[in-house]
Amino acid sequence: MDKIKVGIVGATGFAGAELVRLLAGHKNAEITVLTSRQYAGINFNKIYPVMKGIINIRCEEYNQRTAEKADIFFLALPHKIPMEIAPELIAQGKKVIDLSADFRFADVNNYEKHYQKHKAKHLLKEAVYGLSEVYTNRIKKARLIGVPGCYPTSALLPLIPILKSKLIKPESIIIDSKSSVSGAGRSLSLTSMYCGVAESFKAYKVASHRHSPEIEEVLQKNTGCPASITFVPHLIPMSRGMETTIYAKLTDDRIEEKHILSNLSVYYKDRYFIRICKDRIPDTLAVRGTNFCDIGVKIDKRNNRLILLSVIDNLVKGAAGQAVQNMNIMFGLDERTGLDKAGYAV
Ligand SMILES: NC(=O)c1ccc[n+]([C@@H]2O[C@H](COP(=O)([O-])OP(=O)(O)OC[C@H]3O[C@@H](n4cnc5c(N)ncnc54)[C@H](OP(=O)(O)O)[C@@H]3O)[C@@H](O)[C@H]2O)c1
Repeated sequence: MDKIKVGIVGATGFAGAELVRLLAGHKNAEITVLTSRQYAGINFNKIYPVMKGIINIRCEEYNQRTAEKADIFFLALPHKIPMEIAPELIAQGKKVIDLSADFRFADVNNYEKHYQKHKAKHLLKEAVYGLSEVYTNRIKKARLIGVPGCYPTSALLPLIPILKSKLIKPESIIIDSKSSVSGAGRSLSLTSMYCGVAESFKAYKVASHRHSPEIEEVLQKNTGCPASITFVPHLIPMSRGMETTIYAKLTDDRIEEKHILSNLSVYYKDRYFIRICKDRIPDTLAVRGTNFCDIGVKIDKRNNRLILLSVIDNLVKGAAGQAVQNMNIMFGLDERTGLDKAGYAV
């Protein structure tokens, strides 16, 4: 099989650079174009010296001719820009995997309420939500993917099977997430500077984060339950990693941890990237640099409350890794290709 020619638009941001790292080691893909406005003309390995000897491509500005250079484009851009670029790429027969929110929502009103006016509504119907383990069959046939947000990925993977089996009360779900600082991207901002985060731990956008409607829409679509969640994200002084703790009331006080563990194990049977932790509490270190989502389960018997714990690397399973997993599924490859390296022990 010829190698898949891959373009990364917005390659110099954190998600884009992670795509470069993963795709540079992908045996069926060849990176043919990297775009950036600020670093046009500069070799990618000068911007990220860690890639010296691994990749040797000059960044260029995205233009009308960029489409000719690859078969598939990853858009690692801020929201709003992908909906301007994706239509022309699709019209030229290219596949598109967008990491922003522009193609995540099936309901345009939901997108417009929380983001801005949508400029490519006609593509929303065919865009597939790239939660790889849940939408595999649709991803296989897709030409446009909206990769889920990192918080939604960490919350939806444990929640969907449990809610689908009606083991918890949908109105009781509380999602408490902690994200590393790379989740905010590479551009300078006071809130993500070292002195602002290094000795601090705080919640932000409490009960008003734009990932709440995304989580609710997908939960509702997959489980038939009208979910109304409370979601509180926090920023922690780490460079990568995300931990999500979910609390919900069980529908029956006879439900035990072993039932929940078995429900998750059956739903994710044969899914390499989902690891159900039967005898340990998930830890971000165990998924750092990998595409795994580790899920743990506890029940507080005193109040019949289920506690689900999930960890991902926000830049891998929460962004670039899941995007590559989707590409693998779209091209009929083993979903693990380019993603099966072990993480770091320390
Ligand atoms: N970071 C994460 O953990 C994470 C997780 C899930 C999803 N995402 C999503 O992935 C996307 C990229 O996030 P990121 O964290 O990588 O952001 P980032 O570090 O700020 O990078 C953004 C990239 O887009 C380019 N860019 C910025 N404004 C542009 C414009 N107006 N037109 C064209 N290019 C522009 C930037 O390069 P130039 O300015 O040089 O062009 C840069 O390469 C976002 O939609 C984000 O929501 C990120």
